[in-house]
Amino acid sequence: MQRPDNFTIIIFGASGDLTKRKLIPALFDSFVQGLLPKDFAILGVSRTEFSDEEFKKHLAEGIEKYSERKDIDKDKIKDFIKTTYYQAIETANPEDYSKVKEKLFSIDKDCHTKNNYLFYLSTPPKLYSTVVESLDKQDLIKEKTKTGWRRVIVEKPFGYDLDSAKKLNKDLLAVLDESQIYRIDHYLGKETVQNLMVLRFSNGVFEPLWNQTHIERVEITSSESIGVEDRGGYYDTSGALRDMVQNHIMQVLAMVAMEPPAVFEANSIRNETLKVFQSLRAIKKSEVKDQVIRGQYTKAKVRGKELKGYREEKEVDPNSKTETFVALKLFIDNWRWGGTPFYIRSGKGLPTKVTEVVITFKSTPHKLFKDMKNNQLIIRIQPDEGILLNFGMKMPGNGFEIKDVGMDFHYNDLSDVYIPSAYERLLIDCMMGDATLYTRGDAVEACWKFVMPILDDWKEKSDSTIHGYPIGSWGPKEVEKLIEGVDDWRYPCKNLNSDNNYCEL
Ligand code: BG6
Repeated sequence: MQRPDNFTIIIFGASGDLTKRKLIPALFDSFVQGLLPKDFAILGVSRTEFSDEEFKKHLAEGIEKYSERKDIDKDKIKDFIKTTYYQAIETANPEDYSKVKEKLFSIDKDCHTKNNYLFYLSTPPKLYSTVVESLDKQDLIKEKTKTGWRRVIVEKPFGYDLDSAKKLNKDLLAVLDESQIYRIDHYLGKETVQNLMVLRFSNGVFEPLWNQTHIERVEITSSESIGVEDRGGYYDTSGALRDMVQNHIMQVLAMVAMEPPAVFEANSIRNETLKVFQSLRAIKKSEVKDQVIRGQYTKAKVRGKELKGYREEKEVDPNSKTETFVALKLFIDNWRWGGTPFYIRSGKGLPTKVTEVVITFKSTPHKLFKDMKNNQLIIRIQPDEGILLNFGMKMPGNGFEIKDVGMDFHYNDLSDVYIPSAYERLLIDCMMGDATLYTRGDAVEACWKFVMPILDDWKEKSDSTIHGYPIGSWGPKEVEKLIEGVDDWRYPCKNLNSDNNYCEL
Protein backbone atom coordinates (compact mmCIF):
# COMPACT_ATOMS: atom_id res chain seq x y z
CA MET A 1 0.00 0.00 0.00
CA GLN A 2 1.24 3.48 -0.87
CA ARG A 3 2.12 5.51 2.21
CA PRO A 4 2.05 9.31 2.47
CA ASP A 5 5.26 11.25 2.12
CA ASN A 6 7.00 12.43 5.33
CA PHE A 7 5.25 15.44 6.87
CA THR A 8 4.61 17.55 9.97
CA ILE A 9 1.05 18.07 11.15
CA ILE A 10 0.61 21.41 12.90
CA ILE A 11 -2.52 21.47 15.03
CA PHE A 12 -3.86 24.90 16.01
CA GLY A 13 -6.11 24.61 19.05
CA ALA A 14 -3.98 21.68 20.23
CA SER A 15 -4.93 21.92 23.90
CA GLY A 16 -8.62 21.45 23.02
CA ASP A 17 -10.84 18.43 23.29
CA LEU A 18 -10.85 17.50 19.61
CA THR A 19 -7.07 17.00 19.56
CA LYS A 20 -7.09 14.73 22.59
CA ARG A 21 -10.25 12.76 21.83
CA LYS A 22 -10.18 12.45 18.05
CA LEU A 23 -7.16 13.71 16.15
CA ILE A 24 -4.31 12.17 18.10
CA PRO A 25 -6.04 8.81 18.71
CA ALA A 26 -6.84 8.69 14.96
CA LEU A 27 -3.21 9.40 14.05
CA PHE A 28 -2.03 6.81 16.56
CA ASP A 29 -4.42 4.18 15.18
CA SER A 30 -3.09 4.86 11.67
CA PHE A 31 0.48 4.62 13.00
CA VAL A 32 -0.21 1.21 14.56
CA GLN A 33 -1.49 -0.04 11.22
CA GLY A 34 1.63 1.17 9.45
CA LEU A 35 -0.26 3.80 7.45
CA LEU A 36 1.94 6.76 8.39
CA PRO A 37 5.27 7.46 6.73
CA LYS A 38 8.52 6.43 8.38
CA ASP A 39 9.26 10.00 9.45
CA PHE A 40 6.58 12.38 10.62
CA ALA A 41 6.14 14.93 13.40
CA ILE A 42 3.32 16.52 15.33
CA LEU A 43 3.45 20.14 16.43
CA GLY A 44 0.72 21.30 18.80
CA VAL A 45 0.03 25.03 18.90
CA SER A 46 -2.32 26.90 21.24
CA ARG A 47 -2.45 29.41 24.08
CA THR A 48 -2.08 27.04 27.02
CA GLU A 49 1.50 26.71 28.28
CA PHE A 50 2.84 23.16 27.92
CA SER A 51 6.40 21.91 27.66
CA ASP A 52 7.00 19.30 24.93
CA GLU A 53 7.06 16.64 27.66
CA GLU A 54 3.80 17.80 29.28
CA PHE A 55 2.12 17.87 25.91
CA LYS A 56 3.29 14.33 25.15
CA LYS A 57 1.87 13.15 28.47
CA HIS A 58 -1.45 14.90 27.76
CA LEU A 59 -1.69 13.19 24.37
CA ALA A 60 -0.67 9.77 25.70
CA GLU A 61 -3.59 9.94 28.17
CA GLY A 62 -5.92 10.75 25.29
CA ILE A 63 -4.66 7.79 23.28
CA GLU A 64 -5.17 5.37 26.16
CA LYS A 65 -8.69 6.62 26.67
CA TYR A 66 -9.95 7.22 23.15
CA SER A 67 -8.02 4.99 20.73
CA GLU A 68 -10.17 2.52 18.79
CA ARG A 69 -7.46 -0.14 19.19
CA LYS A 70 -7.87 -2.80 21.79
CA ASP A 71 -4.85 -3.84 23.91
CA ILE A 72 -2.78 -0.72 23.44
CA ASP A 73 0.93 -1.33 23.67
CA LYS A 74 2.49 1.44 25.81
CA ASP A 75 5.78 1.17 23.92
CA LYS A 76 3.90 1.90 20.72
CA ILE A 77 2.54 5.08 22.29
CA LYS A 78 6.07 6.13 23.27
CA ASP A 79 7.26 5.41 19.79
CA PHE A 80 4.41 7.37 18.28
CA ILE A 81 4.82 10.51 20.38
CA LYS A 82 8.57 10.67 20.28
CA THR A 83 8.49 13.30 17.51
CA THR A 84 5.77 15.42 19.13
CA TYR A 85 6.39 19.07 19.97
CA TYR A 86 4.50 22.00 21.38
CA GLN A 87 4.55 25.74 20.91
CA ALA A 88 2.45 28.15 22.98
CA ILE A 89 1.38 31.30 21.12
CA GLU A 90 -1.30 33.95 21.31
CA THR A 91 -3.18 32.64 18.27
CA ALA A 92 -4.80 36.00 17.58
CA ASN A 93 -1.42 37.76 17.46
CA PRO A 94 0.24 37.55 14.00
CA GLU A 95 3.66 38.44 15.52
CA ASP A 96 3.70 35.20 17.47
CA TYR A 97 3.78 33.03 14.35
CA SER A 98 7.53 33.55 13.97
CA LYS A 99 7.84 31.11 16.90
CA VAL A 100 5.92 28.53 14.90
CA LYS A 101 8.24 29.08 11.96
CA GLU A 102 11.37 28.59 14.05
CA LYS A 103 10.03 25.45 15.65
CA LEU A 104 8.92 24.03 12.30
CA PHE A 105 12.31 24.56 10.72
CA SER A 106 14.09 22.82 13.55
CA ILE A 107 11.58 19.93 13.35
CA ASP A 108 12.25 19.65 9.60
CA LYS A 109 15.94 19.26 10.34
CA ASP A 110 15.59 16.78 13.19
CA CYS A 111 12.78 14.64 11.79
CA HIS A 112 13.40 14.63 8.00
CA THR A 113 9.82 15.78 7.41
CA LYS A 114 10.73 17.14 3.98
CA ASN A 115 9.10 20.53 4.55
CA ASN A 116 5.61 19.07 3.95
CA TYR A 117 3.08 20.76 6.24
CA LEU A 118 -0.46 19.78 7.13
CA PHE A 119 -2.05 22.62 9.11
CA TYR A 120 -5.12 21.61 11.11
CA LEU A 121 -7.37 24.48 12.19
CA SER A 122 -9.23 23.53 15.32
CA THR A 123 -9.31 26.94 17.00
CA PRO A 124 -12.51 28.93 17.56
CA PRO A 125 -13.74 29.55 13.97
CA LYS A 126 -13.38 33.31 14.26
CA LEU A 127 -9.61 32.79 14.25
CA TYR A 128 -9.40 30.70 11.06
CA SER A 129 -8.67 33.65 8.77
CA THR A 130 -6.10 35.10 11.21
CA VAL A 131 -4.21 31.80 11.44
CA VAL A 132 -3.99 31.44 7.65
CA GLU A 133 -3.02 35.08 7.08
CA SER A 134 -0.41 34.98 9.86
CA LEU A 135 1.13 31.79 8.50
CA ASP A 136 1.28 33.46 5.12
CA LYS A 137 3.13 36.44 6.58
CA GLN A 138 5.77 33.96 7.76
CA ASP A 139 5.83 32.49 4.25
CA LEU A 140 4.79 29.10 5.55
CA ILE A 141 1.56 28.26 3.80
CA LYS A 142 1.85 28.94 0.06
CA GLU A 143 3.14 26.12 -2.11
CA LYS A 144 6.16 27.18 -4.13
CA THR A 145 8.53 25.22 -6.30
CA LYS A 146 11.09 24.88 -3.57
CA THR A 147 8.71 24.04 -0.72
CA GLY A 148 7.07 20.76 0.14
CA TRP A 149 3.29 20.43 0.01
CA ARG A 150 1.08 22.69 2.13
CA ARG A 151 -2.45 21.60 3.06
CA VAL A 152 -4.98 23.08 5.48
CA ILE A 153 -7.79 21.17 7.16
CA VAL A 154 -10.57 23.45 8.39
CA GLU A 155 -12.78 22.09 11.19
CA LYS A 156 -16.48 22.76 11.32
CA PRO A 157 -18.41 24.96 11.70
CA PHE A 158 -17.50 26.47 8.34
CA GLY A 159 -19.27 29.79 8.87
CA TYR A 160 -22.25 30.71 10.99
CA ASP A 161 -24.46 31.67 8.06
CA LEU A 162 -24.12 32.22 4.31
CA ASP A 163 -22.34 35.58 4.61
CA SER A 164 -19.75 34.38 7.10
CA ALA A 165 -19.12 31.19 5.07
CA LYS A 166 -18.58 33.32 1.94
CA LYS A 167 -16.22 35.60 3.82
CA LEU A 168 -14.24 32.67 5.19
CA ASN A 169 -13.96 31.12 1.72
CA LYS A 170 -12.79 34.48 0.37
CA ASP A 171 -10.19 34.92 3.12
CA LEU A 172 -8.81 31.41 2.62
CA LEU A 173 -8.76 31.71 -1.15
CA ALA A 174 -6.89 35.03 -0.92
CA VAL A 175 -3.93 33.02 0.38
CA LEU A 176 -4.49 29.42 -0.70
CA ASP A 177 -5.48 27.55 -3.80
CA GLU A 178 -8.77 25.58 -3.47
CA SER A 179 -6.73 22.38 -3.91
CA GLN A 180 -4.93 23.14 -0.62
CA ILE A 181 -8.13 23.57 1.43
CA TYR A 182 -9.70 20.53 3.08
CA ARG A 183 -13.03 21.42 4.72
CA ILE A 184 -13.74 18.54 7.01
CA ASP A 185 -17.16 16.99 7.61
CA HIS A 186 -16.54 13.88 9.66
CA TYR A 187 -19.71 12.22 8.32
CA LEU A 188 -17.95 11.83 4.98
CA GLY A 189 -15.24 9.87 6.78
CA LYS A 190 -17.74 7.28 8.01
CA GLU A 191 -17.42 3.97 6.18
CA THR A 192 -21.19 3.60 5.94
CA VAL A 193 -21.63 7.02 4.33
CA GLN A 194 -19.01 6.13 1.71
CA ASN A 195 -20.73 2.79 1.27
CA LEU A 196 -23.81 4.64 0.01
CA MET A 197 -21.87 5.39 -3.16
CA VAL A 198 -20.67 1.80 -3.46
CA LEU A 199 -24.13 0.38 -2.84
CA ARG A 200 -25.62 2.59 -5.52
CA PHE A 201 -22.88 2.57 -8.14
CA SER A 202 -21.50 -0.95 -7.93
CA ASN A 203 -24.81 -2.85 -7.96
CA GLY A 204 -26.92 -2.94 -11.11
CA VAL A 205 -30.05 -3.84 -9.18
CA PHE A 206 -30.63 -0.49 -7.44
CA GLU A 207 -30.02 2.14 -10.11
CA PRO A 208 -33.11 1.40 -12.28
CA LEU A 209 -35.29 1.86 -9.18
CA TRP A 210 -33.45 4.85 -7.74
CA ASN A 211 -35.75 7.65 -8.87
CA GLN A 212 -39.11 9.36 -8.47
CA THR A 213 -40.88 6.71 -10.57
CA HIS A 214 -40.20 4.00 -8.02
CA ILE A 215 -39.41 5.75 -4.78
CA GLU A 216 -42.24 7.21 -2.76
CA ARG A 217 -40.18 9.04 -0.18
CA VAL A 218 -36.79 9.18 1.52
CA GLU A 219 -36.28 9.70 5.24
CA ILE A 220 -32.99 10.65 6.85
CA THR A 221 -32.85 10.47 10.63
CA SER A 222 -29.93 11.40 12.81
CA SER A 223 -30.86 11.20 16.45
CA GLU A 224 -28.86 11.39 19.65
CA SER A 225 -30.03 10.37 23.09
CA ILE A 226 -27.72 12.69 24.98
CA GLY A 227 -28.52 16.33 25.60
CA VAL A 228 -26.02 19.12 25.02
CA GLU A 229 -23.90 17.99 28.01
CA ASP A 230 -21.08 20.50 28.61
CA ARG A 231 -21.41 22.17 25.19
CA GLY A 232 -24.36 24.38 26.12
CA GLY A 233 -22.44 27.61 25.48
CA TYR A 234 -21.61 26.64 21.91
CA TYR A 235 -24.89 24.88 21.18
CA ASP A 236 -27.06 27.77 22.29
CA THR A 237 -25.54 29.88 19.50
CA SER A 238 -25.94 27.07 16.99
CA GLY A 239 -28.96 24.74 17.21
CA ALA A 240 -29.75 21.51 15.40
CA LEU A 241 -30.15 23.06 11.94
CA ARG A 242 -26.65 24.58 11.96
CA ASP A 243 -25.01 21.84 14.02
CA MET A 244 -26.21 18.78 12.10
CA VAL A 245 -28.41 19.56 9.08
CA GLN A 246 -26.47 22.22 7.16
CA ASN A 247 -23.42 19.96 7.10
CA HIS A 248 -23.62 16.26 8.06
CA ILE A 249 -27.17 15.51 6.94
CA MET A 250 -26.76 17.46 3.71
CA GLN A 251 -23.71 15.32 2.89
CA VAL A 252 -25.67 12.12 3.50
CA LEU A 253 -28.49 13.51 1.37
CA ALA A 254 -26.04 14.20 -1.44
CA MET A 255 -24.76 10.60 -1.38
CA VAL A 256 -28.34 9.32 -1.63
CA ALA A 257 -29.45 11.71 -4.34
CA MET A 258 -26.42 12.41 -6.55
CA GLU A 259 -26.01 11.26 -10.14
CA PRO A 260 -23.26 8.71 -10.82
CA PRO A 261 -20.01 10.62 -11.33
CA ALA A 262 -18.31 10.21 -14.71
CA VAL A 263 -15.15 8.98 -12.98
CA PHE A 264 -14.40 8.14 -9.37
CA GLU A 265 -12.29 11.18 -8.74
CA ALA A 266 -12.54 14.14 -6.33
CA ASN A 267 -13.80 16.85 -8.64
CA SER A 268 -16.19 14.64 -10.53
CA ILE A 269 -17.83 13.49 -7.28
CA ARG A 270 -17.84 16.97 -5.81
CA ASN A 271 -19.46 18.35 -8.98
CA GLU A 272 -22.31 15.86 -8.63
CA THR A 273 -22.69 16.66 -4.95
CA LEU A 274 -22.92 20.35 -5.71
CA LYS A 275 -25.63 19.74 -8.32
CA VAL A 276 -27.81 18.11 -5.64
CA PHE A 277 -27.47 21.16 -3.40
CA GLN A 278 -28.15 23.48 -6.31
CA SER A 279 -31.32 21.53 -7.11
CA LEU A 280 -32.79 21.81 -3.62
CA ARG A 281 -36.10 23.63 -3.90
CA ALA A 282 -35.78 26.77 -1.80
CA ILE A 283 -38.08 26.78 1.20
CA LYS A 284 -39.60 30.26 1.23
CA LYS A 285 -39.89 32.04 4.53
CA SER A 286 -43.68 31.83 4.21
CA GLU A 287 -43.41 28.02 3.88
CA VAL A 288 -41.21 27.49 6.91
CA LYS A 289 -44.09 27.03 9.33
CA ASP A 290 -45.54 24.17 7.26
CA GLN A 291 -42.34 22.48 6.13
CA VAL A 292 -40.05 22.87 9.11
CA ILE A 293 -40.71 21.91 12.69
CA ARG A 294 -38.40 22.84 15.50
CA GLY A 295 -38.42 21.57 19.02
CA GLN A 296 -36.59 21.85 22.29
CA TYR A 297 -36.31 19.10 24.88
CA THR A 298 -37.95 19.58 28.24
CA LYS A 299 -37.26 17.77 31.49
CA ALA A 300 -38.66 14.29 31.97
CA LYS A 301 -38.10 11.04 33.78
CA VAL A 302 -36.34 8.58 31.48
CA ARG A 303 -35.86 4.98 32.59
CA GLY A 304 -36.34 6.01 36.19
CA LYS A 305 -33.97 8.97 36.01
CA GLU A 306 -34.96 12.65 36.17
CA LEU A 307 -33.29 14.38 33.19
CA LYS A 308 -32.89 18.13 32.72
CA GLY A 309 -34.64 20.15 30.08
CA TYR A 310 -32.52 22.14 27.60
CA ARG A 311 -33.19 25.49 29.28
CA GLU A 312 -31.81 24.13 32.56
CA GLU A 313 -28.53 23.05 30.95
CA LYS A 314 -25.24 24.73 31.87
CA GLU A 315 -24.49 27.93 29.88
CA VAL A 316 -27.89 27.88 28.16
CA ASP A 317 -30.13 30.95 28.27
CA PRO A 318 -33.14 30.05 30.48
CA ASN A 319 -35.41 31.63 27.83
CA SER A 320 -33.52 30.14 24.91
CA LYS A 321 -35.32 29.57 21.62
CA THR A 322 -32.52 27.45 20.18
CA GLU A 323 -33.83 24.26 18.60
CA THR A 324 -32.49 20.94 19.84
CA PHE A 325 -34.65 19.16 17.28
CA VAL A 326 -35.54 19.91 13.69
CA ALA A 327 -37.59 18.06 11.11
CA LEU A 328 -38.15 19.25 7.59
CA LYS A 329 -39.57 18.27 4.28
CA LEU A 330 -37.66 19.13 1.15
CA PHE A 331 -37.68 18.49 -2.58
CA ILE A 332 -34.92 18.10 -5.11
CA ASP A 333 -36.06 19.64 -8.36
CA ASN A 334 -34.34 17.54 -10.98
CA TRP A 335 -35.25 14.73 -13.38
CA ARG A 336 -34.39 11.94 -10.99
CA TRP A 337 -36.21 13.27 -7.93
CA GLY A 338 -38.90 15.68 -9.16
CA GLY A 339 -41.87 15.24 -6.77
CA THR A 340 -40.30 12.80 -4.29
CA PRO A 341 -40.36 14.22 -0.76
CA PHE A 342 -37.27 13.91 1.42
CA TYR A 343 -37.88 14.05 5.15
CA ILE A 344 -35.06 15.02 7.48
CA ARG A 345 -35.14 14.64 11.25
CA SER A 346 -32.36 15.36 13.72
CA GLY A 347 -32.15 16.14 17.38
CA LYS A 348 -30.72 15.64 20.82
CA GLY A 349 -32.50 14.15 23.80
CA LEU A 350 -34.27 11.56 21.62
CA PRO A 351 -34.77 7.90 22.55
CA THR A 352 -31.62 6.50 20.94
CA LYS A 353 -28.51 7.36 18.92
CA VAL A 354 -29.11 6.38 15.32
CA THR A 355 -28.31 7.68 11.87
CA GLU A 356 -30.07 6.01 9.00
CA VAL A 357 -31.58 6.51 5.57
CA VAL A 358 -34.92 4.91 4.78
CA ILE A 359 -35.93 4.53 1.15
CA THR A 360 -39.63 3.72 0.84
CA PHE A 361 -40.55 2.30 -2.56
CA LYS A 362 -43.91 2.86 -4.19
CA SER A 363 -46.51 0.17 -3.72
CA THR A 364 -47.62 -2.12 -6.55
CA PRO A 365 -50.06 -0.43 -8.95
CA HIS A 366 -52.87 -2.63 -7.69
CA LYS A 367 -53.08 -4.10 -4.21
CA LEU A 368 -53.92 -7.78 -4.60
CA PHE A 369 -53.47 -8.66 -0.93
CA LYS A 370 -54.46 -6.84 2.17
CA ASP A 371 -51.84 -5.83 4.78
CA MET A 372 -49.28 -5.21 2.05
CA LYS A 373 -46.57 -2.79 3.13
CA ASN A 374 -44.35 -0.75 0.86
CA ASN A 375 -40.86 -2.18 0.42
CA GLN A 376 -38.25 -0.30 2.40
CA LEU A 377 -34.50 -0.24 2.08
CA ILE A 378 -32.85 0.91 5.28
CA ILE A 379 -29.26 2.03 5.15
CA ARG A 380 -27.91 2.20 8.66
CA ILE A 381 -25.05 4.65 9.09
CA GLN A 382 -24.67 3.97 12.84
CA PRO A 383 -24.90 1.96 15.10
CA ASP A 384 -25.37 -1.68 14.04
CA GLU A 385 -24.06 -0.49 10.68
CA GLY A 386 -25.66 -2.36 7.82
CA ILE A 387 -28.44 -2.62 5.27
CA LEU A 388 -31.92 -4.04 5.56
CA LEU A 389 -34.43 -4.69 2.79
CA ASN A 390 -38.03 -5.26 3.91
CA PHE A 391 -40.48 -7.09 1.71
CA GLY A 392 -43.75 -9.03 1.99
CA MET A 393 -43.92 -12.85 2.17
CA LYS A 394 -46.81 -15.25 2.42
CA MET A 395 -47.43 -16.56 5.91
CA PRO A 396 -47.51 -20.35 5.66
CA GLY A 397 -50.97 -21.87 5.94
CA ASN A 398 -54.44 -21.17 4.70
CA GLY A 399 -55.30 -17.99 2.84
CA PHE A 400 -52.90 -15.28 1.78
CA GLU A 401 -51.73 -13.48 4.81
CA ILE A 402 -48.74 -11.25 4.12
CA LYS A 403 -45.90 -10.74 6.55
CA ASP A 404 -43.23 -8.10 6.26
CA VAL A 405 -39.81 -9.77 6.49
CA GLY A 406 -36.27 -8.48 6.13
CA MET A 407 -33.01 -9.42 4.42
CA ASP A 408 -30.11 -7.83 6.17
CA PHE A 409 -26.37 -7.31 6.13
CA HIS A 410 -24.49 -6.17 9.23
CA TYR A 411 -20.95 -4.82 9.11
CA ASN A 412 -20.08 -6.68 12.28
CA ASP A 413 -20.57 -9.95 10.37
CA LEU A 414 -17.26 -9.06 8.73
CA SER A 415 -15.72 -9.96 12.07
CA ASP A 416 -12.05 -9.62 11.23
CA VAL A 417 -12.41 -6.33 9.39
CA TYR A 418 -11.31 -3.23 11.29
CA ILE A 419 -13.52 -0.21 10.60
CA PRO A 420 -11.37 2.93 10.78
CA SER A 421 -12.74 5.98 12.56
CA ALA A 422 -13.87 8.87 10.38
CA TYR A 423 -10.90 11.02 11.43
CA GLU A 424 -8.44 8.23 10.64
CA ARG A 425 -9.70 7.94 7.11
CA LEU A 426 -9.92 11.67 6.48
CA LEU A 427 -6.48 12.50 7.88
CA ILE A 428 -4.83 9.86 5.72
CA ASP A 429 -6.71 11.12 2.66
CA CYS A 430 -5.42 14.64 3.27
CA MET A 431 -1.84 13.38 3.70
CA MET A 432 -2.24 11.64 0.34
CA GLY A 433 -3.67 14.80 -1.27
CA ASP A 434 -7.07 13.21 -1.91
CA ALA A 435 -9.92 15.67 -1.35
CA THR A 436 -12.76 13.38 -2.48
CA LEU A 437 -14.24 13.13 1.01
CA TYR A 438 -13.82 16.80 1.86
CA THR A 439 -16.36 19.47 1.00
CA ARG A 440 -15.67 22.09 -1.64
CA GLY A 441 -16.27 25.80 -0.96
CA ASP A 442 -19.15 26.11 -3.45
CA ALA A 443 -20.97 23.13 -1.88
CA VAL A 444 -20.68 24.58 1.62
CA GLU A 445 -22.13 27.85 0.38
CA ALA A 446 -24.97 26.07 -1.45
CA CYS A 447 -25.94 24.27 1.78
CA TRP A 448 -25.97 27.54 3.70
CA LYS A 449 -28.07 29.11 0.97
CA PHE A 450 -30.67 26.40 1.46
CA VAL A 451 -30.97 26.76 5.25
CA MET A 452 -30.81 30.58 5.37
CA PRO A 453 -34.53 31.33 4.81
CA ILE A 454 -35.34 28.97 7.68
CA LEU A 455 -32.85 30.62 10.01
CA ASP A 456 -34.00 34.08 8.92
CA ASP A 457 -37.64 33.23 9.46
CA TRP A 458 -36.95 31.93 12.95
CA LYS A 459 -34.89 34.99 13.78
CA GLU A 460 -37.43 37.47 12.45
CA LYS A 461 -40.34 35.82 14.16
CA SER A 462 -38.73 35.37 17.52
CA ASP A 463 -42.19 34.65 18.94
CA SER A 464 -42.82 31.79 16.44
CA THR A 465 -43.46 28.37 17.83
CA ILE A 466 -40.79 26.13 19.20
CA HIS A 467 -42.40 22.93 20.38
CA GLY A 468 -41.31 21.37 23.63
CA TYR A 469 -40.81 17.62 23.73
CA PRO A 470 -39.98 15.53 26.76
CA ILE A 471 -36.37 14.40 26.69
CA GLY A 472 -36.26 10.75 25.63
CA SER A 473 -39.21 11.06 23.19
CA TRP A 474 -39.15 11.24 19.38
CA GLY A 475 -39.55 15.02 19.23
CA PRO A 476 -42.68 17.18 19.10
CA LYS A 477 -45.83 15.34 18.06
CA GLU A 478 -46.38 17.91 15.27
CA VAL A 479 -43.63 16.05 13.38
CA GLU A 480 -45.96 13.16 12.64
CA LYS A 481 -48.07 15.49 10.49
CA LEU A 482 -45.12 16.39 8.30
CA ILE A 483 -45.13 13.01 6.57
CA GLU A 484 -47.80 12.68 3.93
CA GLY A 485 -49.78 9.55 3.18
CA VAL A 486 -50.74 6.75 5.47
CA ASP A 487 -47.39 5.76 6.88
CA ASP A 488 -45.59 7.28 9.80
CA TRP A 489 -41.85 7.82 10.25
CA ARG A 490 -39.74 4.79 10.94
CA TYR A 491 -38.89 4.77 14.64
CA PRO A 492 -35.47 3.15 14.67
CA CYS A 493 -33.96 1.24 17.56
CA LYS A 494 -30.39 0.40 18.44
CA ASN A 495 -30.65 -2.71 16.30
CA LEU A 496 -31.14 -2.29 12.60
CA ASN A 497 -33.79 -5.00 12.39
CA SER A 498 -36.19 -3.65 14.99
CA ASP A 499 -38.27 -0.56 14.70
CA ASN A 500 -41.31 0.85 16.43
CA ASN A 501 -42.01 3.46 19.00
CA TYR A 502 -41.75 1.10 21.95
CA CYS A 503 -38.86 -1.25 21.18
CA GLU A 504 -36.02 -1.99 23.56
CA LEU A 505 -33.65 0.92 22.90
C1 BG6 B 1 -20.88 17.13 15.63
C2 BG6 B 1 -21.90 17.98 16.34
O1 BG6 B 1 -20.46 17.73 14.45
O2 BG6 B 1 -21.46 15.86 15.34
C3 BG6 B 1 -22.37 17.30 17.61
O3 BG6 B 1 -21.33 19.24 16.66
C4 BG6 B 1 -22.87 15.91 17.31
O4 BG6 B 1 -23.37 18.06 18.27
C5 BG6 B 1 -21.86 15.13 16.47
O5 BG6 B 1 -23.08 15.26 18.54
C6 BG6 B 1 -22.46 13.82 16.00
O6 BG6 B 1 -21.45 13.05 15.41
P1 BG6 B 1 -21.52 11.45 15.45
O7 BG6 B 1 -20.36 11.01 14.65
O8 BG6 B 1 -21.44 11.07 16.90
O9 BG6 B 1 -22.85 11.09 14.87
